[in-house]
Amino acid sequence: MKHLIDPMDLSKEELDQIITLAQDIIEHREKYQDSQRYRKLATLFYEPSTRTRLSFTSAMMELGGNVLGFSDAKSSSVSKGETVQDTVRVVGCFADVIAMRHHIEGAQLYASEVSRVPIINAGDGSHSHPTQTLTDLLTIQRELGHIDGITIGFCGDLKFGRTVHSLIKALSRYKDIKVVLIAPDELKLPDYIKQDVCDKLGIQYKEVSTMEEVMPELDVLYMTRVQQERFLDLEEFDRVKDSFVLDCAKMALAKKEMAVLHPLPRVNEILTEVDADPRAAYFRQVENGKFVRMALITKLLEWKDDPAHDMPEGEEPVYDATLRCTNAKCICNNEHAPHKFRRSDSGTLRCWYCDSKIR
Ligand code: NCD
Repeated sequence: MKHLIDPMDLSKEELDQIITLAQDIIEHREKYQDSQRYRKLATLFYEPSTRTRLSFTSAMMELGGNVLGFSDAKSSSVSKGETVQDTVRVVGCFADVIAMRHHIEGAQLYASEVSRVPIINAGDGSHSHPTQTLTDLLTIQRELGHIDGITIGFCGDLKFGRTVHSLIKALSRYKDIKVVLIAPDELKLPDYIKQDVCDKLGIQYKEVSTMEEVMPELDVLYMTRVQQERFLDLEEFDRVKDSFVLDCAKMALAKKEMAVLHPLPRVNEILTEVDADPRAAYFRQVENGKFVRMALITKLLEWKDDPAHDMPEGEEPVYDATLRCTNAKCICNNEHAPHKFRRSDSGTLRCWYCDSKIR
């Protein structure tokens, strides 16, 4: 069965099918308005969300389906100590597909190991956010008319920003992508993305320290919020929180057809004066998120019983009783998920669930 836990769970063909369907939904909304009648989506949100949860809800409503779930885990049996695996076993009796957001990394992957309905990862800690990635890809396609060949600048919190990690992974499915990383030292992109994604899958990248020096090269500028809730040291947050701010003076250096994306919520990294610039695509991006989730739900329900769309054959996990994942926010250290690992080409051992480097 097909789940969407990581952007690489989708082949290039499947990605194309979802983006194409989303575009058809935009053009012919009436054709789809009753297409998932009697189907149910459960939204299990263990972490705050406005856009993502409402976007899933409105996507399923526009398809004529129903939505159930919780937006505050305290009001569910989680507060009695129920595990995510038991919760999805139970919810799978009531719903045809589950969208889950969790502050614990790897929670959805662990849940998918026992689920009888497709699981959609709506964000796990600072790890992955594949449906935001689909939103971003549809937005780039609609704003620029193509994704192949773009130069994209990622600016802000590249360490904790899960939307950045997932989008870079998915861009490895496209041709001639150039990535520019703009972040303070404390918030640089994790090594596993640089090594296991950019180096291994052939994405060219460079790191720069100012926005001004790269603005004229960019086709897309992907701004992000500094993720206060993921900092263990709040003094460090205060030091870096205002590192990069986009204003009209910087926009004046950019190409006429550059697109500015932001997964939102914004704090102060894009001044409101930029909103009136036609290149500011972030509110259009929000609406694209609903259309692409309509397409994703439709495809996952269509693919559910088709072995051709099973999860990609992955590597076999490595078990070693002497090793443990050291990430306190990983599912292995929060529930009884086994400590298992994957070995990358360079020989590095990483946690199966959260990708933290073990050795
Ligand atoms: C992002 C997230 O939750 O990771 N927002 C979203 O889903 N649109 C980005 C963020 O919180 O900064």
